[in-house]
Amino acid sequence: MTRTRSSLVHQAGYALKNPRKIMPHLRRLSRDTWLRLRTRDHVSYYRAVMKDDAARSPEGAVGSHSHRRWLAMGQMQFDYLVEHGLKPECRMLEIGCGNLRAGRLFVDYLHTGNYYGLDISPDILMAAQDTLVAHGLRDKLPHLTPVRDLRFAFLPDEHFDVVHAHSVFSHSPIEVIDECFAHVGRVMKPHAWFDFTFDRTEGKEHHVLREDFYYRTETLVALAARHGLDAVFMEDWEQLPHKQSKIRVTRRS
Ligand SMILES: C[S@@+](CC[C@H](N)C(=O)[O-])C[C@H]1O[C@@H](n2cnc3c(N)ncnc32)[C@H](O)[C@@H]1O
Repeated sequence: MTRTRSSLVHQAGYALKNPRKIMPHLRRLSRDTWLRLRTRDHVSYYRAVMKDDAARSPEGAVGSHSHRRWLAMGQMQFDYLVEHGLKPECRMLEIGCGNLRAGRLFVDYLHTGNYYGLDISPDILMAAQDTLVAHGLRDKLPHLTPVRDLRFAFLPDEHFDVVHAHSVFSHSPIEVIDECFAHVGRVMKPHAWFDFTFDRTEGKEHHVLREDFYYRTETLVALAARHGLDAVFMEDWEQLPHKQSKIRVTRRS
């Protein structure tokens, strides 16, 4: 009860400070109520959110409210990975590839067929195909695959050099991240690395609707450790103009 009240007080305070955000939030709130009644689990819920958002704008659905921002966000992800070891010969798995905001740059850079993008949203994967066409990348033959979970059951053992998930765990409850950590090590080569971003809180972990999830760094580091993965907080990512933080996970040898 106390927690509910303090959360309501917090929300009222936030609304007073950000009046322009009230209407969009109310729209999201009514969608949340509707979808919760109609979906059976988080993945189906979030797939429906993406369907709704992608129908309005695929670039908006992946979090960019202008084409200029979409290009800039993709470039930032790409530059960081290349500076941190991505090579054209790497085989890359991108979890939650969206409409290839960064993926189009990875596809172009990697050898033909070496990019493997997964997403729970068929609608955003259709938009990803449009991105491939718009950027003249058909010949690179990337794999774009819809999934219903993060078990990677259809992918081979020790296949990928690099795994990437940008702005995916910021939309994921802990069970989804746990499932990913439980299975991702199997598809990673022994020296592969897995970079993901997350919405970091130093206070209490919480979520806004079922759309945005905030974690403490130590929660994700401990969860990775339970699945035999070492996790390192990427300090240099904090210098970039991006609201999320980044962790790199490797297989424990
Ligand atoms: C904010 S968008 C980011 C897309 C892309 N990574 C980028 O940076 O442009 C999040 C994407 O993750 C996908 N997604 C969310 N939860 C997922 C899950 N459990 N498994 C796979 N994809 C997921 C969404 O459908 C959406 O395309």
